[in-house]
Amino acid sequence: MEQLITNETKQQYVYMDKCREIIKKKAELRKKPFTANIKTFGCQMNARDSEKLEGILENIGYEIVDSEDADFVLYNTCTVRENANLKVYGRLGHLKKEKEKNPDMMIALCGCMMQEETVVEKIKESYRFVDIIFGTHNIYKLAQLLYERFQTEEMVIDLLKDTDKIVEDLPSDRKYSFKAGVNIMYGCNNFCSYCIVPYVRGRERSRKPEDIINEIKALVEDGVVEVMLLGQNVNSYGKNLSTPMTFAQLLKEITEIEGLERIRFMTSHPKDLSDELIEVMKSSPKICNHLHLPMQSGSSRVLKEMNRHYTKEGYLALVDKLKQSIPNLALTTDIIVGFPGETEEDFLDTLDVVKQVEFDNAYTFIYSKRTGTPAATMENQVPEDVVKERFNRLLAEVQKIAAKKTGSLTGKVETVLVEEKNSHEEGFVTGRLSNNSLVHFKGDSSLIGTIQTVALDEAKGFYYIGHMVD
Ligand code: SAH
Ligand code: SF4
Ligand code: F3S
Repeated sequence: MEQLITNETKQQYVYMDKCREIIKKKAELRKKPFTANIKTFGCQMNARDSEKLEGILENIGYEIVDSEDADFVLYNTCTVRENANLKVYGRLGHLKKEKEKNPDMMIALCGCMMQEETVVEKIKESYRFVDIIFGTHNIYKLAQLLYERFQTEEMVIDLLKDTDKIVEDLPSDRKYSFKAGVNIMYGCNNFCSYCIVPYVRGRERSRKPEDIINEIKALVEDGVVEVMLLGQNVNSYGKNLSTPMTFAQLLKEITEIEGLERIRFMTSHPKDLSDELIEVMKSSPKICNHLHLPMQSGSSRVLKEMNRHYTKEGYLALVDKLKQSIPNLALTTDIIVGFPGETEEDFLDTLDVVKQVEFDNAYTFIYSKRTGTPAATMENQVPEDVVKERFNRLLAEVQKIAAKKTGSLTGKVETVLVEEKNSHEEGFVTGRLSNNSLVHFKGDSSLIGTIQTVALDEAKGFYYIGHMVD
């Protein structure tokens, strides 16, 4: 296995060299460098994958640009809800016109949507101008597929149903110099009945702890002070390693990395959140005071139908324990409205949990039917007008609570990671608190990427205004 992975990486660098030659010649001929643009849909997993894809394209010699007016346009797609798919089809129509204007242009599609057979069939039929299609399990092969496309002049399609491979050590182009996402695991084994992710991302695979630690150490050497550990259910990390280890143990090891200041992670499934994890969170100041804990529904009956393996009472008890153990912990969540068979009573249970927990923020979604998932064939799909009405009620409640919660740290002095120059006010920068809130304060761009101590003077909307203190 080890040998295989190393060989795979080497092989891909050979393809990058080959593509570089081709691009270089073409660029010399037309006297203009080749440009590439990646548009990312969906979650942090896709965002991280796009950094790797961008790394490969840069290595080949493409100049990465912000606009789709480029020689290589890649859509890294999401299919978690129907509207994510619709967006991609809509934009492809526009890309076709761009391609007619630029004979060098290539269009590639990858990501979760491509793991669905019906999608690929549709593209083969109605979007024949697409050059390359690949999925979630073979992003490391981009250079190879591009090389094949240069050779064949035909649509190149490379899809795997699942994989047990983790290919390490490929190039990657990070979006920020001071913070980075780090995959700790891939795939998902939970099969929540509404969710397509396990079908398009495959079975759960944990990276080896030493690979994760080494990656973070290298990032720190490179100026990174904050990492976000990524996985669909980080709390089940390590179960399938040859020497099993828990997420809490991994986290503890990561806190010991010198020079690393902040650690975030997502997503935590409530069913697997252990006391050991709460202990580690409590014991290290490096672990941020924020937990994203998707509840999905407040009704025990719906949760059972969703295959979530916890109840309303179980969720509330867990939140209670977290709040008791970690003061000022910011809690955020995901909620689905209109799951098949959801009654007014079920919905009131969701509202009740929202009111009791007082989430700092909640991402609310209208249930979207995903073909192939168990929920798609359930009876009693809820009528659209009923769902919309519930969704609006939920949103109003969530916003009311979030507004009440922001500002709770007014008057306090907190550490802040400075992220960018403030886009609205000259001479101001924007930083992020441990609890994920934003604060604007006086400062210049030399502060970006540093940790500062800031007094939070005033809460405005969803952010604070503050000033730096020594
Ligand atoms: N692994 C994460 C979630 C990944 S998907 C977890 O379990 O928490 C992100 C969010 O999209 C989910 O939390 C859920 O709220 C929402 N989602 C997933 N499938 C959906 C569907 N079919 N319809 C509406 N929302 C959905
Ligand atoms: Fe989807 Fe559930 Fe897996 Fe999250 S844990 S990705 S919601 S199946
Ligand atoms: Fe979407 Fe795939 Fe993430 S379906 S939410 S991009 S894992």
